[in-house]
Amino acid sequence: MRAAILLSLTVISSFALQGGGRPAQAAASANASQFADTAAEASHSPSKLSACSPPNRILPSIEETAWRILVAATCPVNQKQYPFVVWENWIEQDQLYPLDPAHGLHVPNSVPPSNSASHVLHASTLTLAKNPGLSTVVPGRLGAPDQNCNRAGSPPPNQPNLVICEEVRLNGATEDYIAGNGLWKRASQQQAAVSGANIQFPATSIEVKADWIQLASIGLDCSDLPAGFSETVHVEMINGNCFALAGIHVISKLLRNWIWATFEPQNLTTNPNRCKVLGCKDLFGSKPAQTNGTNTQLSPKLSNLMAAANLAPEWKNYRLDGVQIFFTDDRNPTLLGNSMIEGENTGIPLRESSCITCHALSSVKTDGTDGIQFRIGNNPVGEPEPLPPDWIRRDFVWSLFAACPSAPFRDCAH
Ligand code: HEC
Repeated sequence: MRAAILLSLTVISSFALQGGGRPAQAAASANASQFADTAAEASHSPSKLSACSPPNRILPSIEETAWRILVAATCPVNQKQYPFVVWENWIEQDQLYPLDPAHGLHVPNSVPPSNSASHVLHASTLTLAKNPGLSTVVPGRLGAPDQNCNRAGSPPPNQPNLVICEEVRLNGATEDYIAGNGLWKRASQQQAAVSGANIQFPATSIEVKADWIQLASIGLDCSDLPAGFSETVHVEMINGNCFALAGIHVISKLLRNWIWATFEPQNLTTNPNRCKVLGCKDLFGSKPAQTNGTNTQLSPKLSNLMAAANLAPEWKNYRLDGVQIFFTDDRNPTLLGNSMIEGENTGIPLRESSCITCHALSSVKTDGTDGIQFRIGNNPVGEPEPLPPDWIRRDFVWSLFAACPSAPFRDCAH
């Protein structure tokens, strides 16, 4: 018995971490008894410490894996002030890719607190890559800085002025890999392309992309929100403006091709189209597991996990849209998209949205040219197209487009 367990674990970790041909087969064939420690904890009452540390391997259920990553990243840091949760404490994309690489990289830990305490939001580059005209500024209030955001590409008919601001957070492992390999500057990426390097983030890498609705743009005022509103969606005052967190993407490198997961709050004002087009499926956390937009209950296991992590009440109203780990299923393209992030913000029809395929095309050319303007135009789905010989892939990480100089859509110094 023991030998069998060890053998399965070896097989699984070689799939999951070194990448074998079909990573997620491992997830599908694993069974609960092989992971006695973590699985037993999840089904009973996990401790605060375990609920607030992300899994370091794929669990028997891929949805449970995604939830444990999100819950750990959402553990409270401060009750009443920013940063409220763990992922808000991670470095923001704009802080990791300096506009003037000649001055080197200064991460927030190394500058005075006054420069690092403000909450950094920006426009969605993906939205602007598709339609640069959507760029807009949300003026800071009470002396706070303005924020570059964007109007939604495909807003609901009753919210024609919908404005969305975005942030991208990279956890420590991701930050270290980018900093340590110099990938925050384009010259290093170019060099990697010239030498045909194989960019591979470590298995503990996690990234979060979060979309915030500027509530004034849909006629809501923070000091006068409908009763119960802020118990259904996370609301924050950022630079004097009131925002609601309407969409969260989470990716994890526990599999060679990453795990792709996306979450939305059950709130018909901020997320009127949640689960409507592709349906939502969560066998671990949601009862019922499959819906087309009706509200669901949390499963007891997920509810216990969130309670152990001491999450603030509104987080218990977020639901998983789905998890993607394959390009295709029985030769048909797999699809996943968030009704807010890809749908309303970027305006991608969700039947043409495949996280894993679009991200597989993150690439850089031997002359430093970025793939972002060339590779995502037609909303690629299914197996990713091969790249020409003078390009390399960047391990699915699109934020690497932001490396200056000559980063598309950024005001690089040169
Ligand atoms: C059509 C292409 C496309 C699709 C579909 C897409 N993305 Fe992205 N994604 C991008 C681009 C381009 C960026 C970088 C620019 C930006 O942040 O907007 C990005 C950024 C991100 C980031 C920030 C980290 C990084 O890779 O740079 C995460 C996390 C992310 N996407 C997750 C997802 C998930 C999860 C899905 C599916 C639910 C998804 N994406 C669907 C193109 C896509």
